[in-house]
Amino acid sequence: MSNHMKQDQPATDCKLDQMSQDLLGKPIARSEGLAKVTGTAPYAAEYPVDNCLEGVLVTAPFARGTVTDIDTQACLAMDGVVAVVEDERMTARAAQGTAGEAPVQQPRTVCYWGQPIALVVAETFEQARDAAKHLVISFDADDLDDVAFDPNAVDPENKESTSQGDLTRAMNEASSNVDARLTTSGHASAAMEPHAAIAEWDGSKLTVYASLQMLNYNIAELADAVDLEEDDVRLISRYVGGGFGSKLGISEETVAAAIAAMQLERPVRVVMSRQQVFQCIMRRSETTQRLRLASGDDGALTGFGHYALVSNLPGEEFAEPVLQSSQFLYAGENRLLEMDVARVHRMTAGSVRAPGEAVGMPALEVAMDMLAEEAGVDPVELRLRNIPENHPVEGTPFSSHKLAECLKQGAEAFNWDSGKRKPRHTKDGEWWIGTGMASAARVHNVSEAKARVTLKADGTAMVETDMTDIGTGTYTILGQVAGEMLGLPRDKVLVELGDTQFPRGSGSGGSWGAASVGSAVFVACQALRKKLAERAGVSEDELSLKDGAISGGTSLVDLLDGKDLAEEGHYEPGDIDEDFVAAGFGAYFAQVRVNRFTGETRVERMTGAFGFGRVLNEKTARSQCIGGMTWSIGVALTEALHFDPVDGHLVNCDLAEYHVPVHRDVPDLDVIMVEERDPAASPIQAKGIGELGMCGGAAAIANAIYNACGARVMDFPMTPDRVLAAMPYD
Ligand code: MOS
Repeated sequence: MSNHMKQDQPATDCKLDQMSQDLLGKPIARSEGLAKVTGTAPYAAEYPVDNCLEGVLVTAPFARGTVTDIDTQACLAMDGVVAVVEDERMTARAAQGTAGEAPVQQPRTVCYWGQPIALVVAETFEQARDAAKHLVISFDADDLDDVAFDPNAVDPENKESTSQGDLTRAMNEASSNVDARLTTSGHASAAMEPHAAIAEWDGSKLTVYASLQMLNYNIAELADAVDLEEDDVRLISRYVGGGFGSKLGISEETVAAAIAAMQLERPVRVVMSRQQVFQCIMRRSETTQRLRLASGDDGALTGFGHYALVSNLPGEEFAEPVLQSSQFLYAGENRLLEMDVARVHRMTAGSVRAPGEAVGMPALEVAMDMLAEEAGVDPVELRLRNIPENHPVEGTPFSSHKLAECLKQGAEAFNWDSGKRKPRHTKDGEWWIGTGMASAARVHNVSEAKARVTLKADGTAMVETDMTDIGTGTYTILGQVAGEMLGLPRDKVLVELGDTQFPRGSGSGGSWGAASVGSAVFVACQALRKKLAERAGVSEDELSLKDGAISGGTSLVDLLDGKDLAEEGHYEPGDIDEDFVAAGFGAYFAQVRVNRFTGETRVERMTGAFGFGRVLNEKTARSQCIGGMTWSIGVALTEALHFDPVDGHLVNCDLAEYHVPVHRDVPDLDVIMVEERDPAASPIQAKGIGELGMCGGAAAIANAIYNACGARVMDFPMTPDRVLAAMPYD
């Protein structure tokens, strides 16, 4: 049976802290870790499927125009080639940026360089790859000048605008003000596992193994793309080698594999090359931002302005939500927040690792550092003075808010020295050494989710949902929620994910997974506890379960009496999001050394303090924070997509040329998780943590570069050439 909880009220009576198993929150290692490191956990391309054909995508070598003809003759005559599949449904995929958007691409119309247009299918991968190079494509490419690729060269459309009071006046009347223009580069998700799918068609049912974040939604996308009912489609995605937004929606390899398998009546595998992943999977938009901050003598903000220019293809809905946390993070009576979208012919822009704050927060937090200097207020103190009581425009209260605690605890742990705010205070040989800090903020999201929990007659439990674990620890934490509620050690709870045969989960995206599907498991377990209490003849409140028995009494096996007991939990976000602003907050502190002669920056140490509601697993949550801070280093120093100004193609399309931080770039990262329960965030009082760790950290590094050597770089990433150019002469 299904138990439904729609959250309209804060879950102040959540009993999780009163349970007896003492499992939730504990730093338990990932349950699937061994399978992953020993290579037995199958990823999308690795499922053993007999008689499988191999497909290779052919992509457009021009940025805009029409494919007029595909001559398959030479290609089909090659060894092992079975078919060339060219189907308009393959490229008319749903926009990847945001689940739920309608497809905008027309058949055979090319909108960006690298757009897939056909699939060559052969007996072996090598044959398919070779044949794909022999496919003759005729096209009519539009004559584009560089204006078509440059977001700063076109007239943008306004996307959003919030205004209150008079910012210009506040700027004019301020004792201190900052008017700063910053830019951030485009980013690639850069998941390790390339996009891949294996499709099997038995004449009436389609089964697809793919690498996806949102099976609950992807099933509808795929069914729609291949004209099937959802009931006739099964998606399997048990292990995902990173998604970071790039696998929120289905993409061409999945649709192409499905269409080919249905046409050819044999299983078909399609794996994108690394270059294809870079060139046709959505990008994060580059941004140009203007920050205007006005304050009184004490640093208290009187004016707050944030403008952002982002880009996307014509017709795409998604726009990098740069201003998301700027809406509420700091006070300031006079406000102007505006965002424009430039229409350019770069590949689709969509969600990449903390869309919005990942690039909006670094720009804001550099501007805050400039204001701190201008106003002569310590940067930590400046933030503390500007924490608003409520949402600065709407007046809505915060669900819970740990920014002040994060700033204080982080500063203490890092040993923040407010005396050393003047640049160039410390030199070690050819290196300048300095420190910087920044706030973190990320909106909290939740999403509808279902999960089934079964107490087996043998006293073990099983959790089933089509939720995915994209490397975040979902398998582990869902077992902890169930184990805590049902009084079972973690190894007595089996968690099955990533299969649409199970109840619809929330999917993994926007950091909502743990709080959403964790709440569905919680709701299912509450229903089970109710049944167990009835059987035991005690009230639910009195029911104390530990290690497979009622504390000091009857065992679960006896209570179950030879029969399984199953309940489905259904969690739905309710109206509560209208009553509160819910967000995760934090603070970063970084120490860098910058080379006087080369401009090279090394991050020496970094501390992050974060408040994100209940910690479900201290180890996996910490890993999420470390991962986020690592990406911060990428935003600060290395990551940038480079487009050719002449034909618009992505130039750096592999992991050698697109630099994500690697082990040598990342020092030991110190993480503080500030104790918090947020009853309005979710029934289990947890907020999102997946993305918070990278929402502003790049600014701590940027501010540390300034503090070290006096180079106020206004463009992310702060590569050596940019640092050198901004560095004052000795
Ligand atoms: Mo996330 S960028 O919503 O997977």
